[in-house]
Amino acid sequence: MIKLCGISKFYSTGYVKTFVLRNIDLEVAEGEFMTIMGPSGAGKSTLLHILGMLDTPSEGQYFFDDKPVHTFDERRLTELHKHQIGFVFQSYHLIDDLTVYENLETPLLYKKIKGTERKGLVAEALDRFHMVAKKDLFPHQLSGGQQQRAAIARALITKPRLILADEPTGNLNSKEGKEVMEMFAELNASGTTIIQVTHSEQNAAYGRKTIHLLDGWIQP
Ligand SMILES: Nc1ncnc2c1ncn2[C@@H]1O[C@H](COP(=O)(O)OP(=O)(O)O)[C@@H](O)[C@H]1O
Ligand SMILES: [Mg+2]
Repeated sequence: MIKLCGISKFYSTGYVKTFVLRNIDLEVAEGEFMTIMGPSGAGKSTLLHILGMLDTPSEGQYFFDDKPVHTFDERRLTELHKHQIGFVFQSYHLIDDLTVYENLETPLLYKKIKGTERKGLVAEALDRFHMVAKKDLFPHQLSGGQQQRAAIARALITKPRLILADEPTGNLNSKEGKEVMEMFAELNASGTTIIQVTHSEQNAAYGRKTIHLLDGWIQP
């Protein structure tokens, strides 16, 4: 599904280049559940954003289903992201002045999915993520666990083939965190590819494979 060849990311300030990722080679097969670990500042979020097409590498090649993503312009990247990828952030990124229902509806509006089908998909997601009773509430009226559940429901509503999750349980208590991980395990069992960033060995144990990043390098 995914192949990275020699991916680097750096920021230039004057004559100084600061490398965040260095010469990353990585393959991710369809159906994989992969964990990325490493200390703060190692480049984990940057790698996940590049995989999610929310950021572009400075050097190297990225193939998604053998398509050369590194040659795509922003419009094509957005299009691919929208149809294939669900991104879950540590801090939920729900839209504050939209209700849970409206937050879930947003990606479907972007995908131009029509009224009846859209309503059906939102209803199904509310049901599946046990948010029916919360659908008219705003994010600030929910607990952290409920907000993350809504954010995950929103990331999954378009039925993406790939889920990228950046410390998804970082702001949750252990019960809420476990719920999120079990949800991922279930999705993975039904074929969804998952790449998660976590500091928790317990969360990493849900995955099948772990890579370690340090100062932008993948550790052997
Ligand atoms: N826009 C930017 N400009 C300059 N440096 C950045 C920028 N974004 C991230 N960095 C740097 O890249 C490094 C890796 O960041 P990040 O990928 O967020 O690491 P992690 O998620 O592993 O904590 C950090 O040292 C950070 O300061
Ligand atoms: Mg990070």
